[in-house]
Amino acid sequence: MFPSAPQTELAHWSPGHAAVALKDVVFYSFLKPWLGDGLLLSAGDKWSCHRRMLTPAFHFNILKPYMKIFNDSTNVMHAKWQRLILEGNTSLDMFEHVSLMTLDTLQKCVFSFDSNCQEKPSEYIAAILELSALVAKRNQQLLLHMDFLFHLTPDGRRFRKACRLVHDFTDAVIQERRRTLPEHGIDDFLQAKAKSKTLDFIDVLLLTKDEDGKTLSDEDIRAEADTFMFEGHDTTASGLSWILYNLAKHPEYQERCRQEVQELLRDRDPTEIEWDDLAQLPFLTMCIKESLRLHPPVTVIARCCTQDVVLSDGRVIPKGVICLISIFGIHHNPAVWQDPEVYDPFRFDPENIKDRSPLAFIPFSAGPRNCIGQTFAMSEMKVALALTLLRFRVLPDHAEPRRKPELILRAEGGLWLRVEPLRAGAR
Ligand code: HEM
Repeated sequence: MFPSAPQTELAHWSPGHAAVALKDVVFYSFLKPWLGDGLLLSAGDKWSCHRRMLTPAFHFNILKPYMKIFNDSTNVMHAKWQRLILEGNTSLDMFEHVSLMTLDTLQKCVFSFDSNCQEKPSEYIAAILELSALVAKRNQQLLLHMDFLFHLTPDGRRFRKACRLVHDFTDAVIQERRRTLPEHGIDDFLQAKAKSKTLDFIDVLLLTKDEDGKTLSDEDIRAEADTFMFEGHDTTASGLSWILYNLAKHPEYQERCRQEVQELLRDRDPTEIEWDDLAQLPFLTMCIKESLRLHPPVTVIARCCTQDVVLSDGRVIPKGVICLISIFGIHHNPAVWQDPEVYDPFRFDPENIKDRSPLAFIPFSAGPRNCIGQTFAMSEMKVALALTLLRFRVLPDHAEPRRKPELILRAEGGLWLRVEPLRAGAR
């Protein structure tokens, strides 16, 4: 999540590297007033206890009903594209559209709240977008790394105001939910609710207990919910935008994906991607993975060594050293990837994966602090991509985008692609 970082040799680690777990660097502290002690930023016992408590939230039983939400949010985005194209817009900024779509999805999955943010401005969504932009901007301005200076600036004031708005929203949902929960038999109540409708993340956070039967406090629930909103939107939007870019640049792969989706959905009405379909899109999945290699949404992560780490050539990273681990560097390392700049989905053909280290490809990080939301993200990206290719052809815009690593990998001035609706008969 840093703008630039050195290439490292850490790709050669063995996976059991619990020795490198802390994230004790200044950048993460910029997020603290917003995300509190949520999973991303917490450490030690609190982190391990919460990680165990939150893991069931990403179980496929919880994720499965979210498929409807992924489909619906994508449909809303496509209806908007159709309208914009009719109005004469031929190029669209993927980041703008896809970010709103992923925020829309998350707001529904985390809070069961439909703000209709893809269609009309939403204060809450605007505040999240502003917070992300302000943290990225602050990261570039060394002087403003100091809290007291930052908080004196107009950006510092804006940051506090947006934080308040986001926290108030989350608090209000938690309070409302607590009011409707019965004092006793919460488990039965939520289980009954799960049978009849989707359990959102707030429900799951209210329900979860540690080994001693202790539940999460309101403050903990807020931190985790705000963390999901932050970690889940920009990352997935970056992933999806670059996937569409790579397929625009490679029409032959785009067409092959489209045929795979058409084949899968033949005679299906309404057109909806279901949970079991996700495993039936092998080529599309290879294309997604190759794009996450070439354009990893999170380019760098930081870890502090909690014990000496011996590298394969015998050199030692001493305990206490903070390492920047360049995911981008690992994914572009010519010693691991032949012709690393070439987009080639067949690198992820099962035949070609066998002999590669599992640490050569780590878009979701690896080890104990890897991404808890990776199945959620992969499912959402598959649904959105499959439906997009079914309805539209994407083509490169005139100007080649320049990569811009901020909190996540963006493109300077947005990622513009030409989008053409496919005729219904051609679908
Ligand atoms: C393509 C999409 C995504 C990518 C590439 C991605 C990548 C990552 C990476 C690299 C990390 C490690 C960060 C670090 O150590 O600083 C991480 C952590 C995390 N991610 Fe994701 N992520 C994605 C989507 C999501 C989604 C959709 C959610 C939630 C709904 C999510 C929730 C989290 C959380 C809570 C953590 C912290 C985990 C912990 O420390 O225990 N992510 N993600």
